[in-house]
Amino acid sequence: MLLLTFLFINHKVKSRFNKEYQVSVQTIPIPTDDASINLGKHIATIKGCGDCHGQNFSGQVVIDDPAIGFLAGPNITRGKGGLLSRHKTYTDEDYVRAIKHGIGQDNKTLKLMPSYEYNPLSKKDLGALIAYLKSLPPVDNETPPIRLNPLAYVLTHFDKLPLVAAERVDHSTQSQEEVLPEVSAAYGQYVAVSCTGCHRDNFQGGSAIVPGSPDVPNINSSGNLGKWSEAQFIQTLRTGITPEGKKMNAKFMPWKMTKEYTDTEIKSLYKFLKSLPG
Ligand code: HEC
Ligand code: HEC
Repeated sequence: MLLLTFLFINHKVKSRFNKEYQVSVQTIPIPTDDASINLGKHIATIKGCGDCHGQNFSGQVVIDDPAIGFLAGPNITRGKGGLLSRHKTYTDEDYVRAIKHGIGQDNKTLKLMPSYEYNPLSKKDLGALIAYLKSLPPVDNETPPIRLNPLAYVLTHFDKLPLVAAERVDHSTQSQEEVLPEVSAAYGQYVAVSCTGCHRDNFQGGSAIVPGSPDVPNINSSGNLGKWSEAQFIQTLRTGITPEGKKMNAKFMPWKMTKEYTDTEIKSLYKFLKSLPG
């Protein structure tokens, strides 16, 4: 019975991995000037690309677990083992398809890549991000290919492991020209997409995202945050220590990423989260 159930799950999940997506990829202008490349570097930092692709983007192990398997964010520089080793060419359209849609050159889903967080990026921010990636010095590093063990299939089947990147994206969303960085709840909402992968779309949190990590707290006005001043919120996101004295592990709550947010980004997040009713 168990074996049959597993074979069924295995089959279902494999067909989700093998589904071919035909999306029309929006043309995003890719600038080459220094200001844009600097903006792109900031976007890469606040979106946490380095958490999975490594701080120099030459790849990094994300999951290495006997039951789940092995998953590394691949080398996305142009060095050995990077984009041009795995693909014959890598065009601007390929970057957009991967980052905005979570889809690879073969039109199949990328695994684990959190593209639903990047899908709403404005043309300006996405273009700058790609400009920055293209400016990266090539680094030679080969990461082993993704290998999934039975538990990965079971967890994926029950939506306990976010492996099917393309499924979580609304592929019809068109990027708007630009979202102006100004202290406002609207800008906070744009930034807060990065929190939804763990704190959920309603920011009310829920059970742990990956096995072994803590439950995710509510961060709208009915949670602790409702009692915090703006200064306390800023301190929490920059130090990983909450006003209640909880020291958060950066592996589970990515405060090493949020500590790089500008004042405008954090203040906007505060305005937005405070504006959400319980
Ligand atoms: C949670 C981990 C994670 C984060 C964060 C992440 N990625 Fe990825 N990314 C992956 C994995 C894993 C793959 C490989 C998926 C596969 O091969 O199925 C990937 C694939 C890619 C690819 C396609 C590579 C190829 O050869 O097709 C690009 C480009 C990319 N990521 C860019 C980015 C950028 C830019 C960011 C930040 C905005 C980012 N990633 C954030 C995990 C991540
Ligand atoms: C990778 C998952 C993940 C992401 C992404 C994430 N968080 Fe968290 N966050 C957590 C977890 C897990 C905790 C609980 C940590 C603990 O208990 O040690 C937490 C805790 C917090 C807390 C403390 C709440 C309290 O009541 O103590 C705040 C505030 C917070 N996160 C804000 C944010 C914001 C803002 C973002 C987006 C910019 C964000 N988080 C993105 C996982 C995440």
